[in-house]
Amino acid sequence: MRLVLLGAPGSGKGTQAKSISDHFKIKKIVLGDILREEVKKGTELGGKVRGYMQKGLLVPDDIVALVIKEHIDNQGFVMDGYPRNINQAHILDEILQEKNITLDRVIYLDVTQDTVMERLLGRRVCKRCGANYHIKNMPPKVENVCDICGGELVQREDDTYEVTKKRWEVFQKEAEAILDYYRKKGILISVDANKNAEEVFAEILTKLDTSGEYS
Ligand code: AP5
Repeated sequence: MRLVLLGAPGSGKGTQAKSISDHFKIKKIVLGDILREEVKKGTELGGKVRGYMQKGLLVPDDIVALVIKEHIDNQGFVMDGYPRNINQAHILDEILQEKNITLDRVIYLDVTQDTVMERLLGRRVCKRCGANYHIKNMPPKVENVCDICGGELVQREDDTYEVTKKRWEVFQKEAEAILDYYRKKGILISVDANKNAEEVFAEILTKLDTSGEYS
């Protein structure tokens, strides 16, 4: 199974990618995490992408295409954060074609701007293992401590009010074209992602099942 998750920042792509990956036992390809790791390690790639990420802008298409190409192989996957514009959708098609594989479904997590702002300003991530929390919706058992590894929980560098607003605008600018592209291919599933994480995941499973392929 090869799936792509599309959605605004804070729509819950990372949260649902984890549930999907655990449920179907397929790997996750999370472009934002891959890029953040490069920044953290101070690699050449990290140096190239950091400025864009800090401002909430997209990293140039040619840079992220190389990263994605490296991570796609003939195993099943759920991809979060790629593609984000129509050019990236075309590049992805080329990569898949070269590797002789096809995309099964594109899942769109549809949310309002209010939901996004509330989620991102309240998000906390584990400094050590990257696990995701929310101060109100998905709090850790002990404040600021990761349930999984005991690491410290911090706010992401791009989760400030101004940068979050910018990321929302960048997403809106590209969204319609890319959704239309996958709608026309007949592989787009749309899910109401304003609901809680369990309800969203249940809707994803129901809609994948509707196709009869993944039950
Ligand atoms: P990236 O890391 O992909 O960030 P994003 O798209 O802005 O998405 P987020 O990770 O912020 O949100 P999410 O949808 O995963 O939500 P989450 O599950 O964490 O990209 C960062 C940057 O990298 C970009 O700005 C860009 O610079 C660069 N980049 C990445 N991809 C690129 C590309 N293709 N091309 C060029 N540049 C690229 O949830 C958010 C919060 O809400 C969490 O606290 C969570 O606990 C909570 N939550 C989640 N679901 C629910 C729910 N249903 N109900 C209540 N709370 C929920």
